[in-house]
Amino acid sequence: MITVFGSINMDLVATTERLPKPGETVAGNSFATAAGGKGANQALAATRAGATVKMVGAVGKDEFAEPALAELLDAGTDLTSIARADTATGTALILVGGDGENMIAVVAGANGTLTEDDAVKLVSSMAPSDTLMLQLEIPVPAVKKALSLARGRGVTTVINIAPLIDEAAELGRMADIVIANETEFERLAGQEGMNADERKQALMRIHSETGQTVIVTLGAEGVIAARDGSLHETKGLKINPIDTVGAGDTFCGYFAAGLDQGLDFGTALRRAAVAGSLACLSQGAQPSIPLAAEVNRNL
Ligand code: RIB
Repeated sequence: MITVFGSINMDLVATTERLPKPGETVAGNSFATAAGGKGANQALAATRAGATVKMVGAVGKDEFAEPALAELLDAGTDLTSIARADTATGTALILVGGDGENMIAVVAGANGTLTEDDAVKLVSSMAPSDTLMLQLEIPVPAVKKALSLARGRGVTTVINIAPLIDEAAELGRMADIVIANETEFERLAGQEGMNADERKQALMRIHSETGQTVIVTLGAEGVIAARDGSLHETKGLKINPIDTVGAGDTFCGYFAAGLDQGLDFGTALRRAAVAGSLACLSQGAQPSIPLAAEVNRNL
């Protein structure tokens, strides 16, 4: 079973021909709302991959609370540990440019009310065969507490060090498995501007120093990872992205589900990379997360 302790947002998404520069105004083409939040997206991806998933987080008591949970509810994710805080549901203001790239500002809202006590409570019901998955959109003390308690209990811990906050490297070192994109990995490695070879060397160095499984997602270039002393590389699909929002979350959720379902590491990576590619083919974080059958057809 997988428990995701993380953020739940309502995404407010506008599309534009190109993303604006600071201080610039550009015309928008469309506007839509969609359920999002890194935690919720990852929980939904793991559920759609076929895993049994519990989401632990918080929404407000406002008009965004139910729509933010609707896709998870529909997929069958366990929502019995979602708190209802006396503040707004988290929101993400997202611009998607014509090339599929995006800019995001997140207002934490209810996500910011999660505490160390919530971490204690959720980890106390976990078994060593379980997986705990975290990201960095909820308060750092809660993430830290969950990681240290879960590791002490023998639970497998997976952290996606996104978004890139000051404590990303420190928290990244606390989990059994760390997932980062290129920029986040540079923070983890403490080295900027790496080329592909330097990145692989840094990956293997961190892996041998910490014993952690380290995974770096490289967008269209696929994924590299270090586990059990070996370097792994896999590719997603060749696609023309429409909207990349949530693609990294889809990768994380599918990857955790794959390991939980007993897939070997390479197969779990490849399936997750394909799922991440498919998530770029339509708009909205959660609406674009593919079902397992679609991913399997594209393997
Ligand atoms: O990773 C994508 C997510 O980041 C969006 O759904 C948005 O809510 C932000 O949290």
